[in-house]
Amino acid sequence: MKTAIVTGAARGIGLATARLFAAEGWQVALVDRDSEELARVAPGIAQGFAVDCDISEPDQVEAMVAEVIARTGRIDALVNNAGIADFGPIEQTDFARWRAVMATNLDGTFLVSQVCIPALRKQGGAIVNIASISGLRGSTLRVAYGTSKAAVIQLTRQQAAELGEYGIRANCVAPGPVRTKLAMAVHSPEIIAAYHDAIPLNRYGSEEELAEAITFLASEKASYITGQVLAVDGGFESTGVGLPALRKTPA
Ligand SMILES: NC(=O)c1ccc[n+]([C@@H]2O[C@H](COP(=O)([O-])OP(=O)(O)OC[C@H]3O[C@@H](n4cnc5c(N)ncnc54)[C@H](O)[C@@H]3O)[C@@H](O)[C@H]2O)c1
Repeated sequence: MKTAIVTGAARGIGLATARLFAAEGWQVALVDRDSEELARVAPGIAQGFAVDCDISEPDQVEAMVAEVIARTGRIDALVNNAGIADFGPIEQTDFARWRAVMATNLDGTFLVSQVCIPALRKQGGAIVNIASISGLRGSTLRVAYGTSKAAVIQLTRQQAAELGEYGIRANCVAPGPVRTKLAMAVHSPEIIAAYHDAIPLNRYGSEEELAEAITFLASEKASYITGQVLAVDGGFESTGVGLPALRKTPA
């Protein structure tokens, strides 16, 4: 049975992705450092099992991947979804805040991918990294978060370039705003209203809409796609001249 690892799977986009993989007949390793929440949700997923792991800790990553392989014998897809958001002005982003964001969003994505390579190359697997529109466009308050996500986009291209000869594909999904715990912690009512104005589809995305794009890129249906960044964002990234006033048709 095909096996996927989904990091940050205890809630939000990761949990929806794990559910969709399971619905499509995959075995899923749900990986998260929130052991309590993970233990609560994993039993609800057919062919799903929980593995506690902080992806920013190299020893824990080694142990997690070894446990998955011991249980399933294979890894066909890796979804590097675990991420943290910490928004603040540059002057107030001290080194500890900067490092915490980089440790999970960038270091963790690098580490888990690296440790999965031997298993992924056995049958030609897929990596799907989760970045953000904040990695595609500059913005205020995202010096650490946005920079970490831009780095994830470049990491994806590096992986595609080097791992292609092993038959491993690497792609990236850049979500627009989704009403998860992560987003609601940093999106004020003003930010929510501004997003609605700036997004052509005039709304936030859902976890399930993100999961559809992620599982597609992980699947055989995407067998000739590698090194790509897919913004799943209601059109936000594509609208360079996206001022709400310019989108209104004159009466
Ligand atoms: N929600 C949005 O609007 C949005 C927009 C763009 C990008 N994203 C990205 O999508 C991904 C998922 O976001 P979400 O909104 O579902 O977040 P979320 O906060 O709801 O879920 C993230 C999960 O990752 C886990 N996690 C965090 N750090 C970890 C670590 N070091 N090791 C293991 N697990 C860890 C958390 O415990 C949590 O369960 C993130 O990479 C995020 O940056 C989200």
